[in-house]
Parts: sequence; structure tokens; C-alpha cells
Amino acid sequence: MQKKIAVLPGDGIGTEVTRGAVEILKAVADRYGHDFQFEYGLIGGTAIDQTGNPLPEDTISLCKDSDAVLLGAVGGPKWDSNPSHLRPEKGLLGIRKQLNLYANLRPISFYASLSEASPLRKEIIQDADFMIVRELTGGLYFGKPSGRTMESGQETVVDTLLYHRYEIKRIIELAFSLAEQRRGKVTSVDKANVLESSKLWREVAEEVSKDYPNVALEHMLVDNAAMQLIRNPRQFDVVVTENMFGDILSDEASVLTGSLGMLPSASISSKGPNLYEPIHGSAPDIAGQNKANPIAAILSAASMLRNSFGLEQEAQAVEAAVEAVLEAGFRTADLSGSGTNTLSTEQMAEEIKISMLGHE
Ligand code: NAI
Ligand code: MG
Repeated sequence: MQKKIAVLPGDGIGTEVTRGAVEILKAVADRYGHDFQFEYGLIGGTAIDQTGNPLPEDTISLCKDSDAVLLGAVGGPKWDSNPSHLRPEKGLLGIRKQLNLYANLRPISFYASLSEASPLRKEIIQDADFMIVRELTGGLYFGKPSGRTMESGQETVVDTLLYHRYEIKRIIELAFSLAEQRRGKVTSVDKANVLESSKLWREVAEEVSKDYPNVALEHMLVDNAAMQLIRNPRQFDVVVTENMFGDILSDEASVLTGSLGMLPSASISSKGPNLYEPIHGSAPDIAGQNKANPIAAILSAASMLRNSFGLEQEAQAVEAAVEAVLEAGFRTADLSGSGTNTLSTEQMAEEIKISMLGHE
């Protein structure tokens, strides 16, 4: 299979972890006989330094011409006092918008070998394996009117939670199609006891569910969902929700299994290529030290193989290699503190590669 992959390393540890992920993708191509071409683009602070623009036109066209995008992370103290149009995050928000990335998928899996890293007791978190599907381009963060005015001498603020039916329908359909390939359950999270937008959300979920007889649908109010994630995370398979609820719940869920350095994400587009990135940032505190955990980036690459290229076997091989390396006791500093098996970023990627190439 021939594919063109846009690589946007970005800033800080973004460059270090994407290097590891590209190494793994190259190994996958070798082992399974694919032809992956990597082309690099600038984004974030590095792009500001080199071009004066956090999202150069070249980067946009590179991404649009590619089959998938792999991103590291953007940002850092160097650019924190820049004016808003020269902020690294502008690059990230810009590329999400340019590519029309309407859904963010965040899989949360539990690794038995890392059970000590979870804030939850092992018997509660054990075997938890679910996916949060967050709507990314609608809702409160984009609805108009939004802003601050003076009314009768009072500062008055408004944000608008706005959705169109098609936006709700496409994300719920995505959730159902993912559930079909998993354990067949969708939990649709809303606030339908109060919000009009949630009432439509619920109606659409019911309608879509008729097309998926093999998938069970349950509705859950968002406040209850926040509680259930901690009380019994094993009950979930696919959780689908609107933008702000998803922002909050996905951050809550991300700490359940341990380190930020473990968690990948996929952002799904309605027309162009999808974008894959670790959920963590550029980690200026450890940047340039070759000690960042590359696993989130490597698992993001696995997600690319599965979701953009349909290469399920290859994706599973990468995921199995990550698991095997953790089982064998290898750790990066964020997972272990110190110890004889503490590896650098490069060493961890190398171990995963060796493990993957060694298994049939
Ligand atoms: P962060 O995720 O960069 O770091 C939080 C903590 O986790 C730090 O102590 C860091 O060392 C550690 N950490 C993160 N990823 C790690 C990894 N792979 N291996 C080992 N340790 C890891 O979040 P923070 O510190 O809030 O933000 C730093 C910069 O990153 C800021 O400029 C922020 O705007 C940006 N950022 C960018 C994101 C993106 O590009 N998607 C997402 C979040 C933050
Ligand atoms: Mg967030």
C-alpha cells in the first residue's frame, strides 16, 4: 500500500516523540511491504521562528495533499508572551479547522503492567477499555453570539451552544460504526433534562441507533457520566458527546490509566485527511533531554494505520509490541522514576520496534 504521510513535529518533545513514531511506521512499512512517504511541515513556535506564521500555507497544502497527518505538539514558554496571532496554538486550531476535523477520538486502555500508575484501585480500573468520541467543531466553543456587552450598566456575557442536526448525526454515526467494531455499546452523554441542544442530540441518537441493530444505545446525563467514569469505568465501550462535555470528560478519563505520555488521539475529518497526535503537550520541562515517553505518539501512529489506512493487523502489531515492552519491564522516566530499565525516548522506540519485528 502506498501512502503519503505529513509529519508536523512542532515544538519541544513533539519533535522527539514524532521521530520515534516515524521509526515505527518505517518498520511497519518494511515488515508488511508498504510504501510510506514522509513529508515534513512546520507548525507552532518553530514555524513562527522560521516563517513568522504558526501555520504556513505550505503546511496547509502539504496536509491537504497527504493521506494522513502525524502531529507532535506545539507551544512553549518562548512564545507565551507573543501577541495572539503569533501564538503556537493558532497553528493547531488552524489546522483542525482547515482539515475540518469534526471528531476527536480518545481511546483509554488499561495496561496491567502499569496498574501502579493509576489513581484508581486496580480492581476498579482493571480491564477498562473504552473510547471517548468528542464533537470538535460545534457547540459552545464556536456558537455565535459570543462575547461581552454592557446592559443596564452591568457587564453581560453570552456564549451560545449551537448545533445543527447534520453535525450531531455525523458524530453519532461515527460512534456507532466504532462500537460495531468494538463491544457493541454506545453511551451518549448529554444534559437532556435541561438543554434543548441535548434533546435534539438524544432524538438523533435514537434515530441513528435504528440503523445499527447490533449496537446497544444508552443515554447518560453528563454529571452522572463524570461520576461513573471513576466509579465503574469498565461499563463503557464508546462514549459520544458534544464539544465541551467531551473536553472535560476526556481529560478526566485520561488520568485514569496513568501517564499522559501513554495516550494517543485521532481527529477525524469529514473530507480530507485525518490527524493523529498524542494528547500531551510540548513538555518544555523535559524537552531536548531525550527522556519523553514516545508511546502516545507511537500509539497515535497505530491509530493512523487502523483509521486512515484500514491496516488493522499492522495497528494491532504496534499495539501488541507496546504492551510486550511494558510487560518486559521497560519504562521511560515518567512511568518509573528511576530504575535499571529506564529508557530514553530513542531507546523506548527502538525496543518497541524490535518487539514488533520479532513477532509474527
Ligand atoms: P504537557 O502535556 O506538555 O506537560 C505536562 C506534564 O506532563 C509535564 O510535566 C511534562 O513533562 C509531562 N509530560 C507530557 N508528555 C510527556 C511525555 N510524552 N513523556 C513524559 N512526560 C510527559 O502540558 P503543559 O506543561 O501544560 O504544556 C506545555 C506546553 O504544551 C504549553 O505551551 C501548552 O500550550 C502546550 N500544549 C500543547 C498541546 C498540543 O500541542 N496538542 C496540548 C497541551 C499543551
Ligand atoms: Mg482539554
